[in-house]
Amino acid sequence: MASKVLVASNRGPVSYSVGEDGSLHSKRGGGGVVSGLSAIGPDAGALWVCSALSDGDREAVRRGAGEEGVRMLPIPADVHADAYNGIANSVLWFVHHMLYQTPLEPVFDAEFRRQWAAYETYNRAFAQALAAEAAPGAAVLVQDYHLCLVPGMLRDLRPDLRIGHFSHTPWAPADYFGMLPDDIRTQLLRGMLGADRLGFLTRRWADAFEACAERFAGGLGGTRVGVHGLGADADFLRARAHQADVAERMEALRDEIGEGRKTIVRVDRTELSKNIARGLLAYGQLLDDHPEWREKVVHVAFAYPSRQDLAVYRDYTAEVQRLATEINSRYGTPDWTPVVLHVKDDFARSLAAYRLADVALVNPIRDGMNLVAKEMPVLSDEGCALVLSREAGAFEELGEDAIPVNPYDVIDTARALHEALTMRPEERAERSKRLAAAATALPPAQWFLDQLRALEEGSEPGPGP
Ligand code: G6P
Repeated sequence: MASKVLVASNRGPVSYSVGEDGSLHSKRGGGGVVSGLSAIGPDAGALWVCSALSDGDREAVRRGAGEEGVRMLPIPADVHADAYNGIANSVLWFVHHMLYQTPLEPVFDAEFRRQWAAYETYNRAFAQALAAEAAPGAAVLVQDYHLCLVPGMLRDLRPDLRIGHFSHTPWAPADYFGMLPDDIRTQLLRGMLGADRLGFLTRRWADAFEACAERFAGGLGGTRVGVHGLGADADFLRARAHQADVAERMEALRDEIGEGRKTIVRVDRTELSKNIARGLLAYGQLLDDHPEWREKVVHVAFAYPSRQDLAVYRDYTAEVQRLATEINSRYGTPDWTPVVLHVKDDFARSLAAYRLADVALVNPIRDGMNLVAKEMPVLSDEGCALVLSREAGAFEELGEDAIPVNPYDVIDTARALHEALTMRPEERAERSKRLAAAATALPPAQWFLDQLRALEEGSEPGPGP
């Protein structure tokens, strides 16, 4: 049956693995789009089109065993690797997060062109699948920088559809975006401008896109632009964080931290834009500038593996581990480990750390939103002080009650950590409450439904009073 609402994204809501006895096991992911689709209910005729990423996913496709409402595309592994690792994660992610630095600036050579061809093939596979599955006049919500060409390609195949695209990343300023080869940047912008409506997480990223469209593509044409600041899923998080496995992990973490110590918590993918290394340097600086904190504070840092196919991510993981070890051997004592670093993904343990946090450290160089900054104030048992980078999208909503930092400045970050650790308990609790309220203003289901409604209505609400 043709679908009336379609979502397209690289990573889908479910992944499969094959057990030793050959049976298939599925694991569901979370996030805004998952909540949104469950909110519109099973009768809405929704379909999620995504990539088959693992051997288990490909096996599920082969057996025709995939979940209802999800269509996994068995993109050839080499095409996917070039499109995802080569273009999406090595070029587009780096451009929008402004991560290039000498000598890592891009070289747009024949290898890049070969990978670009894979990116086109990959996007076309999505456009064709969506065109084949969509009911007349259906709404299609395309997600993120992996699929920038899909709106334009789909528009050519199916002019009847209402097409939206949402960027979960920042958007680069025009001067930086301009480093892409002329024809590529035009293709990317035209691809996105094939949509009826583009969504961004903050006004800042929407403005940056509009500036790029203006400079490199002659403006927005008929495409509308909207801002939807995804919030934390308070109901889900609160329920999940009070289950038994989280309580067990809180006990284990308390043992690692030690009695009566303050905690500075961070939880990230091990991702260059998250700026984990400078966070550790700032913590070392704090212990230098304020020796009174020695033995009295622990930095709980969870840095989960991400994009390990890319050498630059593997090197960064090693760098984070090296810095943590260095701080521990420099300052540690027989009964105090200054940094508790965990690198194995464990959601229940993340929630346990959120509940124990006195200080939340969120210091990305650039970040589309950063949900950790929104989740920690919601879950911290005693209320936490939030040290927050001005370059995180979340800063637009949380800036007033956070302690702002320049993410490059480790001395400033150390100062902010000290301020957070010494904040009066009543002030900390009050600020944390206000942060939690701002962080949950737009729950994921509403975030998704707002976009769907705006796409279907065909016009933007006028400016407020
Ligand atoms: C960013 C992107 C998301 C993506 C996530 C994980 O937050 O905006 O779309 O899902 O990173 O990245 P991965 O490469 O593991 O899918």
